[in-house]
Amino acid sequence: MTPRNSDTVASDEHQTKADRYDDLLVAARSLLAGEHDLVANMSNLSALIYQTLPALNGVFFYRWVEGELLLGPFQGRVACVHIAPGQGVCGKVVQTREPEIVPDVHQFPGHIACDERSRSEAVIPLFTPGGEFFGVLDLDSPEYSTFDAIDAQRLPEIGALIFPQD
Ligand code: SME
Repeated sequence: MTPRNSDTVASDEHQTKADRYDDLLVAARSLLAGEHDLVANMSNLSALIYQTLPALNGVFFYRWVEGELLLGPFQGRVACVHIAPGQGVCGKVVQTREPEIVPDVHQFPGHIACDERSRSEAVIPLFTPGGEFFGVLDLDSPEYSTFDAIDAQRLPEIGALIFPQD
């Protein structure tokens, strides 16, 4: 569909994080409805998340390609292209297939510092509708402790919207 301004959630500092995710989910469903191209959907969803959630300096999709993570559509500064399993936060999620919330990236052994402004990070695994590991969605923040259990709970549902819903 054609993006409209109403697809962007207005930033309201009084909104709770849960409210913000409720609004983001509605906007993302509307933005991606009917589009089957994964590159287009990853592109628009990374932009929507970046302009909707507060305190972000990057939103990155990485796809699982031939045994490594390969950079996909993103918002933010240029990023590393290849990430091996076990390397950094993203590589850990490849191994655990569980969301990883990092309140201080400087305390995470092996963190890959693509953007020196990053202080905290959330990485979630993405699965195809058939349940196959597809890659990860990586959110970076210039503030410490930006992400918590709410992000780990809500981001998988948002990320899954890249796959055709109909
Ligand atoms: N911070 C990530 C690397 C990817 S960049 O931040 C885009 C990590 O350590 O997994």
